[in-house]
Amino acid sequence: MKKIAVLTSGGDAPGMNAAIRAVVRYGIYYDMEVYAVHRGYEGLIDNEFERMHRRSVADILHRGGTIIKTARSARFHDPENRKKAYKNLETLEIEGLIVIGGNGSLTGAKLLSEETGIPVMGIPGTIDNDLRYTDYTIGFDTAVNTVLDAITKIRDTSSSHERSTVIEVMGRHCGDIAVYSGFAGGAEIVLIPEKDISVDEVVDKVASGIESGKLHSIIIRAEGYPVSSNDLIKAIKDKTGQDVKLVVLSYLQRGGSPTLRDRVLATECGMLAVELLKDGVYNRAIGEVDGKIQDFDLGEALAAERPIRDELLQGIKVLSM
Ligand code: F6P
Repeated sequence: MKKIAVLTSGGDAPGMNAAIRAVVRYGIYYDMEVYAVHRGYEGLIDNEFERMHRRSVADILHRGGTIIKTARSARFHDPENRKKAYKNLETLEIEGLIVIGGNGSLTGAKLLSEETGIPVMGIPGTIDNDLRYTDYTIGFDTAVNTVLDAITKIRDTSSSHERSTVIEVMGRHCGDIAVYSGFAGGAEIVLIPEKDISVDEVVDKVASGIESGKLHSIIIRAEGYPVSSNDLIKAIKDKTGQDVKLVVLSYLQRGGSPTLRDRVLATECGMLAVELLKDGVYNRAIGEVDGKIQDFDLGEALAAERPIRDELLQGIKVLSM
């Protein structure tokens, strides 16, 4: 394989730049021409390619975001636009496409490959950790550490003022950011889309905490939990009389310099994606399972199930006594 392209798609995630750097430099090492596609699938449709050189990826390893930009492309859902995207790849004689992104982005890569035959590779890049074939996605560790830092700071002030806080974190379909940060941050309760926890349970937990002498409670609510933060706060206030504040961490979670774990994961994924294309192994999704970087059939990877870690939820319940 002599010419490959790489794009980032969907929500950006810290570590995407580290993956781009690995792809570009490994590609060059194997005598390939490497192209970056700007703005994800949008740029693929609109022919926004850039030939990358060793120096194009200098000084980006430590930077959050993605230097080649990203987008959520509604247009890529249209088969006509996918044809257009393929034509652009064909014109440049690009033989393999590496897509760094989440579930929707890797699904787009699979479709493109099925319809056109272009070999693709998926690298899991999303803070949500919602690609279930891999234990971790690029950006998750950095995001969860950002949340942890926020919890630590909020703890100081909420115990001083004896009030509780609902901390809203990202995760529309996957509660991993909430679960891991709540577990490591000593939250009283974690609310996620995957688990049915009633508002009454939340209120009772805060009330029993107050009774047992707790100065404050930290409630982590993933954005996909069906009851809004404001409704939760109202219910807690009504029942306990305690003051409750809301902190929405929002896009703070998507920025920042990638952690060691994210840099290692991203770099190893980028290296393996290029190695596989070079060896003629196509349509794989790269990921980390049991501490090892591995590749999986793309279709099977997208259909994989990884249940939420119940033992962490149980730990939160018991340890917040
Ligand atoms: O997919 C990553 C993510 O940050 C989600 O956690 C969040 O729900 C969503 O993106 C926000 O999307 P946007 O950047 O389009 O507002």
